[in-house]
Amino acid sequence: MRVTMIGGGYVGLVSGACFAQFGMEVAVVEVDERKLSALQQGKIPIFEPGLDTLVAENVAAGRLSFTGNMDEALVGAEVVFIAVGTPTRRGDGHADLTYVYQAVEQVARKLTGYAVIVTKSTVPVGTGRKVAEIMRAARPDLDFDVASNPEFLREGSAIGDFMRPDRVVIGVESERAEAVLRTLYRPLFLIETPIVVTAIETAELIKYAANSFLAMKVTFINEVADLCERVGADVHDVARGMGLDGRIGRKFLHAGPGFGGSCFPKDTLAMARIGQDAGAPQRLVETVVQVNDARKSTMAKRVTTACGGSVRGKKIAVWGLTFKPETDDMRDAPSIPVVSRLVEEGADIHAFDPEGMEAAKPHLPGAVVYETDAIAAVTGADVLVVLTEWNVFRAVSPARLKAVMKGRVIVDLRNIFDPTAMRADGFKYSSIGRAVPDRA
Ligand code: UDX
Repeated sequence: MRVTMIGGGYVGLVSGACFAQFGMEVAVVEVDERKLSALQQGKIPIFEPGLDTLVAENVAAGRLSFTGNMDEALVGAEVVFIAVGTPTRRGDGHADLTYVYQAVEQVARKLTGYAVIVTKSTVPVGTGRKVAEIMRAARPDLDFDVASNPEFLREGSAIGDFMRPDRVVIGVESERAEAVLRTLYRPLFLIETPIVVTAIETAELIKYAANSFLAMKVTFINEVADLCERVGADVHDVARGMGLDGRIGRKFLHAGPGFGGSCFPKDTLAMARIGQDAGAPQRLVETVVQVNDARKSTMAKRVTTACGGSVRGKKIAVWGLTFKPETDDMRDAPSIPVVSRLVEEGADIHAFDPEGMEAAKPHLPGAVVYETDAIAAVTGADVLVVLTEWNVFRAVSPARLKAVMKGRVIVDLRNIFDPTAMRADGFKYSSIGRAVPDRA
């Protein structure tokens, strides 16, 4: 089966490479010339574990190719995925669909035979129908179907998420389109992956509802963590005790500095807007957006408080800058407001992130010093702030920290260390939601 993937960004690249691995012939169309030439030279512009080898293998097998020429890529295409960016539109919080519609117009002009046009980008409810209208207006003669097939890929484990998903969601209007998409995902049905076949609008909404619910779960536990600190409870045990209830589930109950990344902030905001426009306000989601924004901007205060009221002139080591580990993505990372605030207040920041330092530079104040490794960052520091839970940080022992740090203050916004051990080693250690007194 011939697949055209429009967009060689995160979603397009991972999905394209995975479909090629399923045995499909995939042409990825990328308009950004720098990105395209990197891809054509075998360089992957994003950090995603396993993606480079998967791409290389499938390119070598002749199943995966990259092109800037949409016309060429559309020849004989049976499925056309639209996987272009849908950033938040400035001013109103809606998803910006400019790139989606541009792609559709080009597809409409160039398609040569029946194809299913599938939106993979996260798009507001109703976009699938609009795509069909654009297609029909441009090519009344053409036989086509429109479908929605949202992705649920987490950065850092995207390939595993694609290959072993909890479910595949497809929104379709015809049996023919359903059959095409079932064929495409056949290897997943062989491992008994559940499939939800539904209307296009429903599929579009599933994506927003799923991401907003997960964002709400994280926000819920973050507020519970604040309460734990006030009442002397341990948020880890609360999360475990709650999460073992099968109706709740254990995942996404890890308290931290607030969610970031390319999806949750954008999707919660968009869902709130969709609800307002439709006259069905999503008040919980609206609150999640507000609570999370407020949380990220108050995290710096925890550092100031731990330092006794001022960070001026203090050397602060920052471990981790990306919005989560195993990615180089800085979009909406909590490190941005935290580090910016600390610099404003006169701190001397020495940061280290295993993958995200280049991506971080445009987002952070120029005064930040980037170090070559975790130990270099923390050497001579008065304070250590943990902002992303990379495994390399967990591996550093309290004894090692004690040997290289000047001060004894640690603000662990990801709860990677054991409070009892840290305190036993003489650290003034603060974390999220674990203000429990040490056991005697
Ligand atoms: C998310 C969704 O999980 C994925 O299905 C979707 O399609 C894209 O968006 P991603 O943004 O890569 O994936 O990261 P995810 O692992 O979901 O984390 C999102 C944010 O929530 C991160 O900032 C993370 O630090 C935070 N988080 C997550 C927590 O603070 N606690 C948790 O328990 C889980």
